[in-house]
Amino acid sequence: MISYDNETKIFHLDTPHTSYCMALIDGRYLSHLYYGERIGRSDLTYLLRLHDYILPPSERPDEMATFWDRLPHEYPTEGRGDFRETCLGARNAGGLLSLEPVLTDWKIHREKKTIPGLPASFGDNAQTLEIDLTDKVSGLALQLFYTVFQDADVVVRSAAVRNGGKAPIYLNRALSACLSLPEGKGKTLTFGGAWAREHMPVWREAGYGGTISESRRGAPGHSGQPFMGFLYDQGGLYGMHLIYSGSYLAKLDMDSFGDYRMAVGIHPDTFEWKLETGDIFYTPEAVLFYTPLGTEGMTGILHDFYRLHLIRNFKKNRPILINNWEATYFDFDKDRILSIAKEAAGLGVDTFVVDDGWFGKGRMQPSGDLGDWVPSKKKLPGGLRDLSAGLKALGLKLGLWFEPEMVSEDSDLFRVHPDWVLHQEGRAPAKCRDQWVLDLSNPQVREYLITSISAAIREGEVSYIKWDMNRMLSDAGSSFLPPDRQGEIWHRHILGVYEIQEQLLALFPNLIIENCASGGARFDPGMLYYSPQIWCSDNMDPVDRARIHEGTAMLYPLSAIGSHVSKSPGDITGRTSSFRTRGITAMFGCFGYELDITGLTGDEKSQISRQIDRYKELRPLFFEGDYYCLHPIGEKDRYQVLEIVSKDKQRGCIFFFQALSEANGRSLRVRLKGLSEDLCYEIRGKVYRGDALLKAGIFLPYVKQDFYAEIIAFKALPHPWT
Ligand code: GLA
Repeated sequence: MISYDNETKIFHLDTPHTSYCMALIDGRYLSHLYYGERIGRSDLTYLLRLHDYILPPSERPDEMATFWDRLPHEYPTEGRGDFRETCLGARNAGGLLSLEPVLTDWKIHREKKTIPGLPASFGDNAQTLEIDLTDKVSGLALQLFYTVFQDADVVVRSAAVRNGGKAPIYLNRALSACLSLPEGKGKTLTFGGAWAREHMPVWREAGYGGTISESRRGAPGHSGQPFMGFLYDQGGLYGMHLIYSGSYLAKLDMDSFGDYRMAVGIHPDTFEWKLETGDIFYTPEAVLFYTPLGTEGMTGILHDFYRLHLIRNFKKNRPILINNWEATYFDFDKDRILSIAKEAAGLGVDTFVVDDGWFGKGRMQPSGDLGDWVPSKKKLPGGLRDLSAGLKALGLKLGLWFEPEMVSEDSDLFRVHPDWVLHQEGRAPAKCRDQWVLDLSNPQVREYLITSISAAIREGEVSYIKWDMNRMLSDAGSSFLPPDRQGEIWHRHILGVYEIQEQLLALFPNLIIENCASGGARFDPGMLYYSPQIWCSDNMDPVDRARIHEGTAMLYPLSAIGSHVSKSPGDITGRTSSFRTRGITAMFGCFGYELDITGLTGDEKSQISRQIDRYKELRPLFFEGDYYCLHPIGEKDRYQVLEIVSKDKQRGCIFFFQALSEANGRSLRVRLKGLSEDLCYEIRGKVYRGDALLKAGIFLPYVKQDFYAEIIAFKALPHPWT
């Protein structure tokens, strides 16, 4: 899969359908040659245009700045005349530093390496190319890692930077990867949105000025994804997705010749890292892909890759949840929880998630108690053990909400440890949702959180936790770190989150962590490594959820998307919809309920067990099948059609959702995807040839009804026609 040709000095990496090639210029400088559909080995160095408009340094050593700015560097660095986005920048005690890393060694490892402290893809049948480069002036030594897997059309990249010099060096940028792409008109794909409107795809013409997607909040936020895509008008989509949960930068630049540079990594604006002699800094991984099949190809590649190589045990005991947040908000106690649980018992629900407010003094609004992860005597006088026993008697397990990264001013934790709050000396830290951020760079804080959360998990025999994060970082100063490490807080914060979650999973191997951040503000590949499911949005309105799910599922498998049935009219939109529609639209993810089911009508209650049965029957398809968006609802359209087909093409389903019916309309015709041409399929009692469904299509039901949802399941039959 990976080879090096001594003669042409080309590194050639193959995935099942793509090739990624790099060359060494003057035997020293690592340069990009080609990424795209799979090609055989040959001398591709003509693609560099050396002698066309740049000369290699061996011929014009004084023209380094010209050479540096034109070369399609694999890992561009600061200070020698590359004026585009670079991957690495540093300073030493004497001031600025320019870098010129040159190749010193390379190796091919027959495995995928882990990354200390960071989430990372994994899997057998992988090869990793390690390329070692050194900057002789500073002593910085770089290792670039490129992994290919036998069964995935991605190239996974990361870098490690070691201070091999004699004095401390301060990194001020360390991106994960850069990709050079040739000229050609096209559009960038990024994601935008807001709270309750997360993960909306954004297409923009690529051109001068480039495209940026970024977060400087400490998490990707509601309005971004650590992702950059580029779709050529002629076809062919390239993308980069960062396995990281903090501030990120994803950028596509166009130079004066129309060539592009795409780069992703930790946002340099909120990053500095001190390297003492011998210290190593590891960047997060970036997942690179190319597909000739546009967004459909991208979705298939990423879904498969994340299910196979990033989410640990993606099928692991996923519970059907009932959550009390939208049922009670803060206003609950043990009796109220058990009264809802009684209604849920026997319907197929597995776990009752007690949301915000069960701890400390039993807060009744979003202020106070964060940090005091002990059961409230007022709301739960018998503690978690008693609550858990009550639920167990009804056949339910206990799940608990935590917001570990935060602390309230009115909390025992803050009274004892005021110095554990992120703050700048001399200024009161800014509150948001009446809370402050804990300093996770401090190991004592991390230890406290692991101990207190573990105690609650043990006491309540908790099998699931919802890990929330309801504000972004500000006043990022630490009493723990020395002055010249204050710039490390942003990255150390997220390393702290990873460490705590990893330790909790090690202590409780059957625990499910569902990450959440005010809805979907930290829905990223990094979180997927720890939590097989992530809360997608606080907005559970069926129309809005269809839009949000659609954007989220462009990148993430349905098995990762937390999705609940809530009340009508919904608290966020005020929209009224039927229980049936809310149930069907919530099925395309990790299913659950989040409403006061004690107030449902008899008919609605009876639908719950039918919905859960249907969901359980379809779940293997949703979790393991190939997903296609046949008609996007986008931000404005009136209907959505999705399709899921099992890998063996024997089963599938079509999801039809009509937000608004059309006057003087008729049934919609869609061509299906992913079926076998050699099979027939039975759909609603009628048999169709696979090729007819793929090429000619099928009609969907014609319904004069707004907010109408239907799942049409189908299965393959032996071919009656030859
Ligand atoms: C966030 C979450 C909600 C809920 C509340 C509790 O907003 O997204 O689901 O848990 O916090 O305060």
